[in-house]
Amino acid sequence: GFLQLAEASNTATLGAEVGNSASVQQQYLTGSFPIVFAAGKGNLDEKEVGKKRSIYTESDLFIAGFPKTGTTWLKSLLFGIVKRANHPIDHSPLLTHHPQELVYNLENDWYNQAFAYPQPHHLNELKSPRLLSTHVPYTSLPESIKTSGCRILYISRNPLDTLVSFYYFVLEYAKKIENEDIVKSLENFFEDFCEGKFTGGPYFEHVLEFWNMSLERPDKVLFLKYEDLKDDLKPHLKRVAEFIGMPFSPQEESEDVITQIIELCNIKNMKEVNKSGVINKFFEKKSYFRKGEVGDWTNHFSPALVEKMNKLMKEKLDGSGLSF
Ligand code: A3P
Repeated sequence: GFLQLAEASNTATLGAEVGNSASVQQQYLTGSFPIVFAAGKGNLDEKEVGKKRSIYTESDLFIAGFPKTGTTWLKSLLFGIVKRANHPIDHSPLLTHHPQELVYNLENDWYNQAFAYPQPHHLNELKSPRLLSTHVPYTSLPESIKTSGCRILYISRNPLDTLVSFYYFVLEYAKKIENEDIVKSLENFFEDFCEGKFTGGPYFEHVLEFWNMSLERPDKVLFLKYEDLKDDLKPHLKRVAEFIGMPFSPQEESEDVITQIIELCNIKNMKEVNKSGVINKFFEKKSYFRKGEVGDWTNHFSPALVEKMNKLMKEKLDGSGLSF
């Protein structure tokens, strides 16, 4: 199972827990780091944590998702929706910034150092509503996130497509650090994934926890699927806007603001904006935008592996009402 993150464990806790070294980064991405998101245990520097202590509030908006499920896309869409009154579309920060620069990731201090862009020293520096994101599983989230009443938008994706996406992302990372030896075969990643020894932790448990929360507290947790967004984004963006309490007005509907936001966040545009530049010394901005398609897994796995995943999926999701 997942371990509980220490309370108020925003970035500082995670950073203190596992250190900020390139080797941890590497273990994390290749799935060999054994305690994924296992803060709350070990040598926390309480003074550091105290300094950064941050109480989450009802107005906070979180994007949650297992790595490579489309979190960057959802970040851009959420930013586009929330900030639509602040900037005309043709002056949107999304035309000049990577979505990661606009939606702050809770684990940032942990797995990155030397950001190429400024980071807040304290979450209170962010304007309300704070746009935050995390890959941390529900169980492991700090209590104050669960009890503050903040809203969580969870994105899920077909596990095989998630795996393929992850594999290519690690390849890009390996190229960047000039050490391609760290890349396992896709089949090895597949095995690790099935065993739950993977970046982000066990996949199905991650998805199911948020799925169940979305059924229990539909006003606080919105469950989205990458495939549904790809299929027909507009109705889902309307749902998102309503969920966060910022529905599109009749005037905005008539001006078709939603379609403008969709266009702004289109993968082609995102690739153009982010074709050069880096997140930090590990990641190129462009590595977050690859194909952006549904079903790339069909080009990557043998029938035997597909069958194995289908069996596992059936077993894990049985009775949940969820399927991919
Ligand atoms: P692929 O590798 O299958 O192309 P994350 O943002 O959670 O790391 O997920 C990355 C995946 O989302 C990648 O999938 C990437 O191409 C896809 N993606 C990123 N931006 C997108 C967009 N604007 N539209 C659709 N897919 C997008």
